[in-house]
Parts: sequence; C-alpha cells; structure tokens
Amino acid sequence: MNRLSSNMIGSISARHVQLSRLTLRSLSTSMSASTLKEDGATAASVPIQNAERIKYFKVYRYDPEHNQSPYLSTYPIDLNECGPMVLDALLKIKNEQDPTLTFRRSCREGICGSCAMNIDGGNTLACLSYIDSENLEKATKIYPLPHMYVVKDLVPDMSNFYEQYRSIEPWLQADDKPDGQVGEHLQTRDDRAKLDGMYECILCACCSTSCPSYWWNADKYLGPAVLMQAYRWIQDSRDKNTQQRLNALDDAFKLYRCHTIMNCTRVCPKHLNPGKAIAQIKKKLAHSKK
Ligand code: SF4
Ligand code: SF4
Ligand code: FES
Repeated sequence: MNRLSSNMIGSISARHVQLSRLTLRSLSTSMSASTLKEDGATAASVPIQNAERIKYFKVYRYDPEHNQSPYLSTYPIDLNECGPMVLDALLKIKNEQDPTLTFRRSCREGICGSCAMNIDGGNTLACLSYIDSENLEKATKIYPLPHMYVVKDLVPDMSNFYEQYRSIEPWLQADDKPDGQVGEHLQTRDDRAKLDGMYECILCACCSTSCPSYWWNADKYLGPAVLMQAYRWIQDSRDKNTQQRLNALDDAFKLYRCHTIMNCTRVCPKHLNPGKAIAQIKKKLAHSKK
C-alpha cells in the first residue's frame, strides 16, 4: 500500500493529464448583453448565454492493482454545470469523465465524516468545501488525508485510526443495578453541557492527520481525535471508570506526544477544539497524582 507523505503532495508531477473534450469557448460570448434603447440609454442587462467557466481539478490517483507510482489526473469542469462544493465536482468527474476515480462520501452535509481529504493543502470535508470559483486560472488540488496508507485514489486506510478509537473503550461504563438490570443514567443539565464541543465530533480524522506528532508516531500516539473522544468519556458524569480511563492514557507516547502545535484545532471542519481537550486530560492527570 502506498503511504502519502506531505512531501509527496508538493512534488508529484502531473504526468497523466487527462484533458477533456471540453474546449474553452471564447469568453467574448458575454454572459449578458446590453440592449440600447432608442434614446441611447442602456437597458438592464439581459442574460443571453452562459459562457463556460472552466475550472481544473488535479486529483491524486493511485491504484495498487497497477504497477504504477501515484500520479495526478487533471479534469476540467464547467462550473455553470456543477454544484458549489468540491464534492459536487468529484461526483461530476466520476459520473461524466472517469468512473474509476475512487473516493468516500455518504451524507454530503458534514455528518458522516467520510469525505475527509486534503484540498488545496488543508484537510477538510469535500462536501463542506466551496469550489474556489473566483480563481478559475488556479487549479484545485485534491489529495487523500496526508501520512495515511492509501487504499485507492482518495481513500485512506483508516484501520489504525479505528483501532485506536476502539482502544479507549468509547462507551458508557456505569454500574448496573444490583439485579443486573441496566438502569437509567441520569445527568444534570450542567453535567450534560460538559460534553458539548466533543460529542459533535464526526471522527473524520482531519485533525489527527494534520498533526505532525501523529504523522511520525501514528502507531503509538493516539492523536487529537481519539484523545478528545477519550476526554469525552472522562468528562461524562455517568461514567464510573474515570480514573481508569485517565490511567490508561498516562503514557509518554499515547498522550504526551502532543506538543500543543494546535494544527488539529485549526483544521477541524466542525470547529471543535481537540487541542484544548488534550490539555485538559494532561491537567486532570497531573491533578489526580497530587
Ligand atoms: S475533532 Fe474535528 S477534525 Fe477531529 S475527527 Fe472530530 S470532527 Fe474531525
Ligand atoms: S495540539 Fe497536539 S494533537 Fe493538536 S496538532 Fe498539536 S501536537 Fe497534534
Ligand atoms: S459526505 Fe458525509 S461528511 Fe462529507
């Protein structure tokens, strides 16, 4: 499996450029025409024809079944015939130009987290990213999430990420009733509010894969997404294993590889703050040792 490094993002040349059958019509076919009134005044502009607005998308391609290094494919899209988001462009490319292009998506509204990728140098969700339609001359570059093994094209291998999530036991651990029945686990409004800003995480991995510490130690460092979820359960007033959860994180690699660089918080497409959650875990751990 190919592993995508940050260097690669900058250096892959566009060796396989698939220029389209689309041709740029002269922009002199103006989007609107002015009609002159008899007295010479200009009437309101009347749209007569939409000139093509071609935007190029350079997309990372890799197919493990072909003995070929990764490369970029370039696809032109007429923005007049495309939705406003980068995911719209990818779907249009797949439907109309290249059905082999592979990427994940499901909800197309920032809920499932599956369309996370690197767009113009930043990790984000394709369905929440507007196409840069102001700069038609500048191609949009799309890569998989950085420093992940690539399954195919824009699909990263999330196995390690999900295994790390499993390791923090992301479920409620509360005492059952003496008769073995699972009871209701009530919570005050104030306690419930402590989970705000964490329960909204959609596990897209944009934050973890933008973290330099995670790039170099993804096998041992849990990374911001998983650590914030660990803290989500530490903060849950209904959970009875708070101290065990803290102890499990007390490790030079699992937790303390975070050096507060804060890339994670900068990129989160849901505007969450995993960097702060990590700082809170460190604080709680220090406090629990006093
Ligand atoms: S914290 Fe934000 S960037 Fe990180 S996994 Fe959750 S939603 Fe994605
Ligand atoms: S704050 Fe920690 S987790 Fe976030 S990017 Fe920096 S080192 Fe990574
Ligand atoms: S398609 Fe679900 S978050 Fe983008």
